[in-house]
Amino acid sequence: MTQPEAEPFTKSLERMNLFQEPEARTLIADLHLPEGSRGLDAGCGAGLFAVWLAEVIGPGGRVVGIEPSAERVDAARELVGHGPVGSRLEFRVGDATKLDAPDASFDWVWCGDVLHHIQETGRALGEFARVVRPGGRIVVKESQLLHGAFLPGHPALERRLRQAEVEWSRHEGGEFSFEERRQRTLASLRAAALSVESFRTYLLERRAPLSRAARDYIQHVVFERNWGPRLRDRLTSDDWTRRSALCEPESPTFVLDDPDYYCLYPISVLVARR
Ligand SMILES: C[S@@+](CC[C@H](N)C(=O)[O-])C[C@H]1O[C@@H](n2cnc3c(N)ncnc32)[C@H](O)[C@@H]1O
Repeated sequence: MTQPEAEPFTKSLERMNLFQEPEARTLIADLHLPEGSRGLDAGCGAGLFAVWLAEVIGPGGRVVGIEPSAERVDAARELVGHGPVGSRLEFRVGDATKLDAPDASFDWVWCGDVLHHIQETGRALGEFARVVRPGGRIVVKESQLLHGAFLPGHPALERRLRQAEVEWSRHEGGEFSFEERRQRTLASLRAAALSVESFRTYLLERRAPLSRAARDYIQHVVFERNWGPRLRDRLTSDDWTRRSALCEPESPTFVLDDPDYYCLYPISVLVARR
């Protein structure tokens, strides 16, 4: 059964982006994208990654962000379109599996935490290869190829929450869960005849006292959204009670108020060359 979302999806994406921001900026810097280059952000979500990408390519560069719905395109434009690098950004409705762009019209493609949502992975990667110039790069970022740890000291409960989340993710259909699709990214790139130049994982660590961005993401996205009502029917009532004691801010044992709280969260970046 589909549960109503606690907040608009783009708000959750904005929180996720801000949580990842320091490592996101590092991993983008490590790509050494050329000054003045033109890139495609396939599945740009809230648009913050498009901004960070646009910052490193300088005033002569351009990032085109696409999203399948006009509503999400409008949300990205609203959030970041009027900022300091707004003139380097363009947001359009588009589908990664059938791109409305000429062959070889981009220097690079960025695809961040999107590929696991696309069942026709090979078609999307084929499209990325088509629109990137020869020698250009296709960068696929996927978070949590290894599970992060958001409930330190409670690994068994966290494993069961993760398993419920894996089962929930099958609602988008297809043969594989998000977790399975994420872990198949390398194989998918190779199957699309792309040569994988690097595969690097960045580890994000946050400790109490948490920054506002970390607290907001963990509380509102991980606990309230990802592990919220949508998992209720997939957990035993004992596990739901344990989850609520640790994950709800009204609880006296809310983990984010623990002075020894920390979380770990991996972000993997695979770079393929056309
Ligand atoms: C988890 S979000 C990641 C968004 C953004 N890249 C980020 O890092 O915050 C996945 C995004 O992929 C988009 N998406 C799903 N299927 C897509 C497709 N076929 N083409 C383009 N984007 C797609 C969704 O609308 C959603 O915004």
